[in-house]
Amino acid sequence: MTKPVWIRHASQLATLAGGSSSPVVGAQMNELSIIEDGSIWLEDGVIRRVGTDEELAFHYRDRAHEAQIIDASGKLVTPGLIDPHTHLVHAGSRQNEFNMRLNGATYMEIMNNGGGIHSTTAATRAATHEELFAQSKHRLDQFLLHGVTTVEAKSGYGLTLEDELKQLEVAKQLHEEHPIDIVSTFMGAHAVPREYKENPEAFVDVVIEEMIPEVARRKLAVFNDVFCERGVFTPEQSRRILEAGVHHGLLPKIHADEIEPYEGAELAASVGAVSADHLLRASDKGIEQMAEAGVIAVLLPGTAFFLMAESANGRKMIDRGVAVAISTDCNPGSSPTVSLPLIMNLGCLKMGMTPAEVLTAATINAAHAIRSGHEVGSLEVGKKADVTIFDVPDFMTLQYRYGINHVNTVIKNGTIVVA
Ligand code: NIG
Ligand code: FE
Repeated sequence: MTKPVWIRHASQLATLAGGSSSPVVGAQMNELSIIEDGSIWLEDGVIRRVGTDEELAFHYRDRAHEAQIIDASGKLVTPGLIDPHTHLVHAGSRQNEFNMRLNGATYMEIMNNGGGIHSTTAATRAATHEELFAQSKHRLDQFLLHGVTTVEAKSGYGLTLEDELKQLEVAKQLHEEHPIDIVSTFMGAHAVPREYKENPEAFVDVVIEEMIPEVARRKLAVFNDVFCERGVFTPEQSRRILEAGVHHGLLPKIHADEIEPYEGAELAASVGAVSADHLLRASDKGIEQMAEAGVIAVLLPGTAFFLMAESANGRKMIDRGVAVAISTDCNPGSSPTVSLPLIMNLGCLKMGMTPAEVLTAATINAAHAIRSGHEVGSLEVGKKADVTIFDVPDFMTLQYRYGINHVNTVIKNGTIVVA
């Protein structure tokens, strides 16, 4: 039996309480439910009590000696951060393409010339399960050091049934063996592989008829995602792929309106996607339809930054009633980072979000974007004991002192995993 962990005297304990049943929207995104001189008792992997230090000191007066005590004086305590959109499992690296882009080549040009996603696909196909595991585990370790306790992970660099399954099996093993929880997404429709260049429809058929049923049968994914973009998958193909996923019990997600406006937001609303991600070029109509349909916007300002493009308009989406989450998009081409705290900084600086809104977006709304709002994303009794402690006195300072890893302690399932 592990000892209870008692975190005491947090300068701010940002609980994010109250949003477990549905995503947080509008002005509510700016409310963090903060307790000053906060205290939280973690036991058997779950949160047992949250309140002021005075309240907990009284409640646990006879058991205080049993606990491992963490003094959080002068520190900010938040739910473990959640990254709802990553391409965690992949092999290789693309720093050469970064250099090409710095010299003027565009992301899509590189991809259309056989680089980009195709280059990572070649590396991922060539890697063994063990090699993929080792490279991905290293990234996961780095995520943990940045305060992240749950990540979504997509396949999509295999693009054959066998190689897609290999990626998903690696994600499953990481979920089982690593402190971070992984929620898997099948993304066979990440690119049309080179061997189907002349006949993309045939590849769409393979995704629908072979890959989706097998992934669903093996229960290797919760979600099904598609890169709906001019030159990749059309809205019509994307719809077919997402509907096929729904038919097999995989919930829809979509990479929408990233490079060009392509009615991806509208499609997300029409198929009832759990989230639409990127949305740099989403139309006003699409944003309104997302708000109405309750599609969560997963915004990826690190990708816009790294592609030297204008960020999505997070401010407008929140003001129009869309629930916003944010994520690293961790991938080797458009956002090779694991720093969700830096992405939060960019949410403030490039998308007009407030320090409170980006914290909501990286915790409870991120949890909802991966259908986990009932068990993670806020510090409430009964939820998983996933907690991050930052060495800053308040949530404003976490954004103000930007680009610094302020993580002091990470607790996952009630166990201290970063100290
Ligand atoms: O979310 N846009 C498509 N997929 C990833 C990039 C993948 C890659 O370049 O390897 C994204 O940006
Ligand atoms: Fe992505």
